[in-house]
Amino acid sequence: MTHKILVLPGDGIGPEVMAQAVRVLDTFKAEGEALEWSFGLLGGCAVDAEGDPYPASTRAAARAADAVLLAAVGGPKYDNLPRDKRPERGLLAIRKDLNLFANLRPALAFEELADSSSLKREVVAGLDLLILRELTGGIYFGQPRGRRQDDNGDEQGFDSMYYSVPEVERIARVAFDAARKRGKRLTSVDKENVLETSRVWRETVARIGRDYPDVELSHLYVDNAAMQLVRNPRQFDVIVTGNMFGDILSDEASMITGSIGMLPSASLDEHGKGMYEPVHGSAPDIAGQDKANPLATILSVGMMFRYSFARGDLADRIEAAVKRVLANGLRTGDIARKGEAVTGTRAMGDAVVAALATNKR
Ligand code: IPM
Ligand code: MG
Repeated sequence: MTHKILVLPGDGIGPEVMAQAVRVLDTFKAEGEALEWSFGLLGGCAVDAEGDPYPASTRAAARAADAVLLAAVGGPKYDNLPRDKRPERGLLAIRKDLNLFANLRPALAFEELADSSSLKREVVAGLDLLILRELTGGIYFGQPRGRRQDDNGDEQGFDSMYYSVPEVERIARVAFDAARKRGKRLTSVDKENVLETSRVWRETVARIGRDYPDVELSHLYVDNAAMQLVRNPRQFDVIVTGNMFGDILSDEASMITGSIGMLPSASLDEHGKGMYEPVHGSAPDIAGQDKANPLATILSVGMMFRYSFARGDLADRIEAAVKRVLANGLRTGDIARKGEAVTGTRAMGDAVVAALATNKR
């Protein structure tokens, strides 16, 4: 069976880092793996070409694919477009369209990079945390939303936040299943002291937890969770939370590991179909300069093999290759310390491809 992949390079540094990730696909294909991929447009480049950040051609290709690889979308050029034409809309639209409700954001502190963290080495070394963010509900998608006049006649903006019991159940099950395969500890993050959605969230997670007596469940308020993450991040194994809290906490967690340029993510539907993308953005300030770190996108390819194609062996090889290039001292600008030599995007890709050639079975 051939795995069909839709590749969406996107904007900014997206095309550069994706080019290196595609070289990993080339490598495996040359080894005989049944892989097929095509390219599509999402975000600003899609607005330029088709006037729509998630055009119908991309929608059709994404629905037909077994997995989607995305680099990054957005840029200053698009900041003044109407909201429905903004690149971010394309990202939210594809998540919703493919029903990618479970967003896995692992925060792994590579030993070699422990000194790049803004926290002390002894606080972060060995950190291995998984954040599970609900991705298709909550305040990101709730209707109604918009602008209106309040009772005093003043203009106001408003958004709606909802979580229904089935929406919480399905993300909770993904979280408990993930915890079961790891350290068997799950922390659910909410704002149950204030929000009704969080009451539903907490009750539902606790009820699903009865099906997982082997997983230790705890609950934290989001403000406390934000504090605990910088106080002692290694206390966590798996964190499950809603869309907006997950957006914020996953950025915080990424910095703890040293660089957001290292972190991959997976967004999955109920059947294991997924979209894989680095957690970082399109970094327009360094676009086209061969400076961006391609490792998060390359590690996202690894997650694709693990979660959508059940090829943990190929994921392991990618992760080992990345560890190897770090151990050999290669550093893009984002992970280099003062005085360390800086490697470019393409040269980093060369090194990963070379390391993959030596770790064949
Ligand atoms: C993320 C990003 C997106 C989000 C933006 C670009 C819409 O911050 O994937 O974390 O908020 O979900
Ligand atoms: Mg974010």
